[in-house]
Amino acid sequence: MHDYQYDHQTVKGFIVSSIFWGVVGIVVGLWISIQMWKPELNIPPYFTFGRMRVVHTNGLAIGLGIGAIFGISYYIVMRLARRPLLFPKLARFHLYLFNAAVALAALSLFAGMNQTLEYAELEWPLDIGVVILWVMFAVNVFGTIIKRKEEQMYISLWYIIATVIAVAILYIVNNLAVPAGMTKSYPVFAGVNSANVQWWYGHNAVGFIFTTPILAMFYYFLPKSTGLPIYSHRLSIVAFWSLVFAYLWTGAHHLVYTPLPDWIQTLAIVFTLFLIAPSWGSVVNGYYTVGSDWSKMQTNYLTKFFIMGITFYGLQTVQGPTQAIRVVSQLIHYTDWVPGHVHMGTMGWVTMTTAASIYHIIPKIYNTEIYSIKVANTHFWLVLIGQLMFSITMWITGIQQGALWKATNADGSLKYTFMEGLAKNYPFWQLRTVAGVIFTVGMLFFIYNIYMTIRKGRALAASQA
Ligand code: HEM
Ligand code: HEM
Repeated sequence: MHDYQYDHQTVKGFIVSSIFWGVVGIVVGLWISIQMWKPELNIPPYFTFGRMRVVHTNGLAIGLGIGAIFGISYYIVMRLARRPLLFPKLARFHLYLFNAAVALAALSLFAGMNQTLEYAELEWPLDIGVVILWVMFAVNVFGTIIKRKEEQMYISLWYIIATVIAVAILYIVNNLAVPAGMTKSYPVFAGVNSANVQWWYGHNAVGFIFTTPILAMFYYFLPKSTGLPIYSHRLSIVAFWSLVFAYLWTGAHHLVYTPLPDWIQTLAIVFTLFLIAPSWGSVVNGYYTVGSDWSKMQTNYLTKFFIMGITFYGLQTVQGPTQAIRVVSQLIHYTDWVPGHVHMGTMGWVTMTTAASIYHIIPKIYNTEIYSIKVANTHFWLVLIGQLMFSITMWITGIQQGALWKATNADGSLKYTFMEGLAKNYPFWQLRTVAGVIFTVGMLFFIYNIYMTIRKGRALAASQA
């Protein structure tokens, strides 16, 4: 028996909150996907595409993503440090403040308060709230790690440390602004500098919210749930340091063919191509870990979530660098290809890995088994089908859009009008909504399974008491 108690209440609180905000974000996602082919669903002023799209991205990146990252990182840090959180009351307050901040963020975005910087839309009073939340997280993570009872630092801790430091720097720098009232501010960077800083931030938001903390989960829960030790600690460390070094120089690949100086674009493209190596370091490590016993794919229901998750990460990290190359960028940039890329990462890699981690944590916390492996398998297949259908339809329509926009007549005039091009997207956008519905049903199976597992655990605890 351990001589200490883990703070599971806060972990549970964050997990339940992240699921709640995930539902909000996904429902809004479905709505905006319908708005694209049924404009009547825009209901001014609050329920228009412009306002709802940012509720979707913030709801899922901050509400689902960061909520899960807070809770699951606390879980991992406590286990790897072999001690409870250093400041459990602070962690509880962190949870309450987090929910208040996400609710206010959603309301402010619906109300149209927006800095117009992608993934940094929140106005300055909420930015200050986000910084306070992050400091609370950092204090508990670093405090607990410093006072740890286990000397060795497993790779997941390094990924969590990188997340804490990088997000703090990125968020503060990109949000530097001069307030002009409570709901309006002006960024300190202007013109091409503003774009450069914004995409340095934007790409690293992907790197340090959708990548490093998710890799922390992957490295911790894959061996835990399969019972197979990670294939190579050395490879995990080499991949970690090269990943965090390379990521920070790549943001300008979002600005290929813009007025940004050419050398900055080229530098970013070179670092971007290099990024394949450390990304695949983790992919290979995952495959070789399960490679010692592939039968786990059949016998252990979580293995396929992790292996499919890391496979999508692998595909994403080949597709991403390819998109940065000039000749590819000039075809797919500004098209639906990009949401296809985005949702392979978010629905495939992030949501699958996070859901699998939650499947591992909840039964452990409640001292029970998962309610139904069958339901978990149904969840797996539905989100897989929904995600593939979403991304593939967007890739097809993206290439079509790019080709139509570039087609010219012999005299140099455009071959297709804007409306001709637009009409061709409709069938694909409708298919995307169907894909979203399939994915959403899959997520409902997940939520049901978690809810029933909690009920089962509570009933068991009551009967033992
Ligand atoms: C080596 C890894 C990756 C590289 C080099 C990369 C590269 C890129 C590039 C070049 C774009 C811009 C495409 C364009 O607009 O022309 C992009 C967009 C994006 N990527 Fe990736 N990607 C990588 C991995 C990921 C992962 C793992 C995710 C996780 C979800 C992700 C999420 C996104 C998002 C959200 C955008 C859209 C940004 C926006 O324009 O709003 N990427 N990526
Ligand atoms: C039912 C599932 C989902 C549906 C129907 C959906 C739908 C959409 C739609 C219609 C857009 C706007 C695309 C555009 O502007 O052309 C979008 C953007 C986005 N969604 Fe989703 N989404 C879903 C799930 C998710 C999930 C689970 C995440 C994150 C965890 C996510 C993150 C994003 C991001 C980051 C963008 C911005 C992409 C960009 O700027 O290129 N979505 N989504």
